[in-house]
Amino acid sequence: MTNNANSPDATIFQLGGDLPVRRIGYGTMRLADGPGDPAGPEARIWTAPADRAAAVRLLRTAAEAGGTLFDTADAYALGAGEELLAEALHPYGDGVAVATKIGVVRPSPTEWVPLGHPAYLRQQAELSLRRLRTERIDLLYLHRLDENVPVAEQVGALRQLQEEGKVRHVGLSEVTVAQLDEAESVTPIAAVQNLYNLATRDHEAVVEHTAGRGIAFVPFFPIAMGGHAGPDGPVAEVAREVGATPSQTALAWLLHRAPHVLPIPGTNSAAHLLENLGALDVRLTEEQFARLGAVGDAAS
Ligand SMILES: NC(=O)c1ccc[n+]([C@@H]2O[C@H](COP(=O)([O-])OP(=O)(O)OC[C@H]3O[C@@H](n4cnc5c(N)ncnc54)[C@H](OP(=O)(O)O)[C@@H]3O)[C@@H](O)[C@H]2O)c1
Repeated sequence: MTNNANSPDATIFQLGGDLPVRRIGYGTMRLADGPGDPAGPEARIWTAPADRAAAVRLLRTAAEAGGTLFDTADAYALGAGEELLAEALHPYGDGVAVATKIGVVRPSPTEWVPLGHPAYLRQQAELSLRRLRTERIDLLYLHRLDENVPVAEQVGALRQLQEEGKVRHVGLSEVTVAQLDEAESVTPIAAVQNLYNLATRDHEAVVEHTAGRGIAFVPFFPIAMGGHAGPDGPVAEVAREVGATPSQTALAWLLHRAPHVLPIPGTNSAAHLLENLGALDVRLTEEQFARLGAVGDAAS
């Protein structure tokens, strides 16, 4: 398998050149909080989900349906997201790749604060290893760069973990091309996870740059936190044309954008999860791709 459009299976990407993952992953961030807590952009992502058994079932459904890339973070419900992944999927089979993130502290339900002191990053990686019940994390992201700590020190902490065999691949989140370049002088970067969808395209330069270097581009908020899933939303017209749902069509736009793009939609619904994986079978014409992209062109 290769990472280009001529790959025998265009639904697969080789993460870091050696870890095959399907190009629709699953984001676990929304497996948090309880009934009555705010949802959408106001969600607190602070407590473990009220219905823990349902969350475990959902994760197992994702794996059984062929989902391979599971995305979490130590900051999601203060580590409860990682614990849920372990409860549902440990011991992880060959078909499961776990990505987690460190480097953001949660002093309260509404605060997400970057903290990149190398000693803290190393401690958090150790805690993630424990919660995930694994000896090596497939993909460890720096959740945010901390502007108060040199990039080389932050990324150096992750490189040290890699050298110790505790981390297979290193990723970055919400970075620019310049920051990525600086990090790459310290250690190879396998994935960049930035906010990107057909309507929010501030990171086009990073998409282009990562494409040329075999680095996965993992767009978060791939369906605009549900904003592109509605029957009357900006993607509904093309969705009707291709016989897919709006959510699938928004994901198909990302898959069409470039072969190194790996969306990680989040959902609490098994039906939505299976629907989202089905986006791998949706094909857009160049005209439909351009028409959907015009939504973002208009927004910028
Ligand atoms: N690196 C970072 O800083 C960062 C930041 C934010 C998120 N993330 C990661 O990115 C992942 C994705 O982000 P996200 O989950 O917030 O946003 P998203 O995938 O764009 O949207 C999730 C929302 O869309 C709805 N949805 C999903 N599939 C649907 C479908 N087929 N039909 C109708 N509605 C659907 C979900 O509601 P239902 O539950 O009702 O389906 C949920 O409210 C997160 O889970 C997390 O792992 C990373």
